[in-house]
Amino acid sequence: MEVIIQQDYDQMSKIAAQIVVEVINAKPTAVLGMATGSTPLGLYQELVRLHKEEQLDFSRVTTFNLDEYVGLGVNHPQSYHYFMHEHFFKHVNIPPHNINIPSGTTSNYPAFCQWYEERIADCGGIDVQILGIGSDGHIAFNEPTSSLSSRTRLKTLSKQTIDDNARFFEQRESVPIYAITMGVGTILDARKLILVASGKAKAEAISRAVEGPVTSMITASAIQMHRDATVIVDDEAAADLTMRDYYDFIYAAKPAAPRF
Ligand code: PGA
Repeated sequence: MEVIIQQDYDQMSKIAAQIVVEVINAKPTAVLGMATGSTPLGLYQELVRLHKEEQLDFSRVTTFNLDEYVGLGVNHPQSYHYFMHEHFFKHVNIPPHNINIPSGTTSNYPAFCQWYEERIADCGGIDVQILGIGSDGHIAFNEPTSSLSSRTRLKTLSKQTIDDNARFFEQRESVPIYAITMGVGTILDARKLILVASGKAKAEAISRAVEGPVTSMITASAIQMHRDATVIVDDEAAADLTMRDYYDFIYAAKPAAPRF
């Protein structure tokens, strides 16, 4: 795992975007795994800027989103469909039929979840998966005690996630309690992972995910099992990392490291 600590949110977002750009440049038909939440917004803004100003081309890209609230239709302002459209898809040239987001309104969740897994496989798997982290240590909606080999399925949100996400809804009671989410196993199958985190509210989750034991209590810790995971955090989110000096040292030494 590589841990990159940047001074602020903008720098964190630019470095994360640069990794996505490298994947697309190497493979114009790349399959991107997308995340919602406040944290990846800067990363999406940077990708949109690169599309508008530097012709970054998404015309052959395919995307899969991590999760969606159960019960929210695609036009609901708090649905992840709506979020992705507003913040990213409407600003870039990804063909609509290449965009995949779990359905929050399907009539058959088990069948849909299985179809979603098959569709990821049919598209050749995810080349790079963008991840945020919940203050309870979740990735996607894989709440504490989720199986580390779980696949796409329905989950009940934790109280902490409902509290955290209540800020987007008029009242706490309006936050859906169920979600459809890629599993930890689905996420670990991606060829590359980028996890972004910002602010002091994420410091404990980041330290437990990066430096704690691998545990289903912090599902983000499962990325320690992945062979190509990059964690990009700002100073505040890095506050509880005990090996910070080493991560900075590695990053500074990287340009001169031998390549083969
Ligand atoms: P946030 O959500 O980026 O809005 O903090 C992250 C997450 O819950 O995965």
